[in-house]
Amino acid sequence: MVDIKIRELQKEDIDTLAEINITTFPWTSFKLTHKAAAKFLQDRLDKQMVYVAVKDDQVIGFIAMKRDFLFGNYIRRIVIREDLRSKGIGSQLVKYVEELTFGNNIPNLYLICTTTNTKAIAFYIKNGFKIIGEITNFVDEGLDEYILRKTIGTINEFKLYD
Ligand SMILES: CC(C)(COP(=O)(O)OP(=O)(O)OC[C@H]1O[C@@H](n2cnc3c(N)ncnc32)[C@H](O)[C@@H]1OP(=O)(O)O)[C@@H](O)C(=O)NCCC(=O)NCCS
Repeated sequence: MVDIKIRELQKEDIDTLAEINITTFPWTSFKLTHKAAAKFLQDRLDKQMVYVAVKDDQVIGFIAMKRDFLFGNYIRRIVIREDLRSKGIGSQLVKYVEELTFGNNIPNLYLICTTTNTKAIAFYIKNGFKIIGEITNFVDEGLDEYILRKTIGTINEFKLYD
C-alpha cells in the first residue's frame, strides 16, 4: 500500500486539487471549470469536511464529505491523481470518512456515482457499498446516477428515533 498522509484541506491545496478534478472523468463530461472546482473547495475550506491525501509533500487527491443526510453522512466527491490510482489511496480516504461516520455511531454513508463510471462503481463495491437506487437524467439529459449506501445497522439499533 502506498504511504500517504491524510489531513484537512488548506488554502494552498486548492489550485492543484481543482486541476486534478477538472481533468478527471466524470467531471470532464459535466464540463466542470477550474473556477467552479476551486470554488467548490474554497466554500468547504472553513467547514473542515475535505480531507486531502498527501504523498511526498504533494497533494494528490481529496475526499469531500457532507453531514446529516438520511441518518448518515454523504461522500460528495472523491478524486485521486490519475497516475496514482489503483494503489489503495482512494480506499484509505474512504476508510477515513468511514471512521468519522461509523466511528461516531452514525450508521450510514451514501454517495452517488455516474452509471457509466464502471471503475468507480467497482471501487465502491470493493469497499462495501451497495447500489440502492438510480436517478435518471440527473446532471444532464441522458446522464444517470446510481445511489450507493454502506451501513453498519438500522436507525433503531442506533437509537436515533426519539
Ligand atoms: C475512484 C477512485 C477515487 C478510486 O481511487 P483509487 O486510489 O484508484 O482506488 P483503490 O486503489 O483504493 O482501489 C482500486 C479499486 O477500485 C477499482 N478501480 C477504480 N479505479 C480504477 C482504475 N482506474 N483502474 C482499475 N481499477 C480501478 C478496482 O476495483 C480497483 O481494485 P483493484 O486495484 O484491486 O483492481 C479513483 O480511481 C479516481 O479518482 N477516479 C476518478 C474520479 C472518480 O471517478 N471518482 C468517483 C466519482 S463518483
